[in-house]
Amino acid sequence: MITDTYNRVHNYLRISLTDNCNLRCFYCMPEEDYEFTPSAKLMQVDEIEAIAKIFVAQGVNKIRLTGGEPLVRKGADEIILRLSKLPVNLTLTTNATRLHEFVDVLEQANVRSLNISLDTLQPEKFQLITRRNLFDKVFENIHLLINKNFHVKVNVVVMKGLNDNEINDFIEWTKDTNVHVRFIEFMPFESNRWTSNKVFTLKEMLETIAKKYKIITLQNDVHDTAKNYKIENHTGTFAVISTMSAPFCSGCNRMRLTADGKMKNCLFSKKETDLLTAFRNGEDILPLIYKSILSKEKELGGQFTTDFKNIHTENLHNRSMISIGG
Ligand code: 5AD
Ligand code: SF4
Repeated sequence: MITDTYNRVHNYLRISLTDNCNLRCFYCMPEEDYEFTPSAKLMQVDEIEAIAKIFVAQGVNKIRLTGGEPLVRKGADEIILRLSKLPVNLTLTTNATRLHEFVDVLEQANVRSLNISLDTLQPEKFQLITRRNLFDKVFENIHLLINKNFHVKVNVVVMKGLNDNEINDFIEWTKDTNVHVRFIEFMPFESNRWTSNKVFTLKEMLETIAKKYKIITLQNDVHDTAKNYKIENHTGTFAVISTMSAPFCSGCNRMRLTADGKMKNCLFSKKETDLLTAFRNGEDILPLIYKSILSKEKELGGQFTTDFKNIHTENLHNRSMISIGG
């Protein structure tokens, strides 16, 4: 088992398949010309499978594929099918623009649950946030998957002044639709226009919702990053991911592999461990994995305090979200 110095067991690996994406969400991609990683530097299909197996042998039983957008990666279908042969719960986080092309593969791979990013229910605002005109496709694909009985979680990054006024529209969507909406507090990454006054907190979200609805608190799992709720008589449910105002690091079981094969022990870690180069050199990567996990900080990569009002982004050392993989 992969255990850190705070006794946290790490059984969940998030693998980024690419840092490329067909959307351009401003909070995820840096503003300056971003260069996508050339494909030779990406972990190849066999390498992903072999490295994943090494983690699985150490007790990993859940794998999430991320990006960028995982479904724009060439060979995404083969990667999904190969990883589905491992004894893991396989899931992915996607922007849903290409999901219609992958329904069969996902069913074959027995993927049952998906996280889909969608920050607005308004087509014009979707274009403003993502710089692409694909709202209808995304919305259609979300319903396609729900109708096929997938468990669909919709990730909404809430940014004050941009989409906080849509929180109750998302809640209304859960009335007759079996969707699980997850409101995420806006997090800082390199050059993503984050400022502390754009964070709309868990408390503010619950106050907004309570003005219109009766909230029922649901049970959480220890490893849950989300606090779960539902509205009386609604089919769907919702949750808040309070990374900024109430971090949940004490139950963390997550490790990340970037598309170029670097291990990150935390979303906010400054340090990365190059597993792919070692693997290509024929080295045993297990000691590197353990070394990385043993240097895991207690909270938020040791980069900032839990009082997010005091975060100064100029001191932040981290890749942008697109190159880490959510
Ligand atoms: N703050 C919060 N969530 C973010 N995501 C991407 N960037 C940020 C950010 N700065 C979300 C995406 C995706 C998930 C993996 O992370 O919307 O749903
Ligand atoms: Fe693409 Fe997701 Fe980043 Fe938007 S948030 S640019 S959809 S990877």
